Amino acid sequence: DNVFLFLPGTFPADFPEPLPHFLQEPEDAYIIRNQAVSLSCRATPANQIYFRCNGEWVHQREHSTQERVEHSSGLLVKEVRIEVYRQQVEEVFRLEEFWCQCVAWSSSGTTKSRKAHVYIAYLKKVFKVEPLGKDVPLNQEVLLQCLPPEGIPPAQVEWLKNQDIIDPAADRNFYITTDHNLIIKQVRLSDTANYTCLAYNIVARRCSSMATITVYGN
Ligand SMILES: *[C@@H]1O[C@H](CO)[C@@H](O)[C@H](O)[C@H]1NC(C)=O
Repeated sequence: DNVFLFLPGTFPADFPEPLPHFLQEPEDAYIIRNQAVSLSCRATPANQIYFRCNGEWVHQREHSTQERVEHSSGLLVKEVRIEVYRQQVEEVFRLEEFWCQCVAWSSSGTTKSRKAHVYIAYLKKVFKVEPLGKDVPLNQEVLLQCLPPEGIPPAQVEWLKNQDIIDPAADRNFYITTDHNLIIKQVRLSDTANYTCLAYNIVARRCSSMATITVYGN
């Protein structure tokens, strides 16, 4: 009955509030050209949430904050969002990585989210290795090499035969290795063509020089 006698006098926290729990943590993001990226996080219970970027607090006025009751759980969830601009990332980028994390407070203490990295996306122009044309006898195996230009995120590669994308799933005579080389297992007369390595990521696409394969029979 006299349970109140034993409780600390910190009204209104009748029972200890748990530490904040993140329902959403900020995710890695890429800046494309001059488009800012948004980072956001959601936590409950949370009196405050702020972002820290590269170990420094982001100013309060740069946060947009929302609070709402989640339908499924009835919990009061706080959401915070910031914008990160290319220039901010450039300032830090030369020295180190650009990262941000959320810190949320409840009356019990603080919880930190994961660190989200922000990268400036790019794709250089020059291929490290380009395919070379050659004359090959019928049925021989052909290897065309391609090492795409450096990029963030790293380039994906496709191969073109003349103007058409090669689909190794549709034509089992073609094989693309994990390091982006094209193998023609047994070259046919119809494989005489111009081959191009196409490198692309979220900012750009680049074509290698063309390699002409000429197949000769006996
Ligand atoms: C390859 O490209 C060159 C230049 O565009 C063209 O003249 C030639 O006919 C092409 N070769 C094949 C086999 O398509």
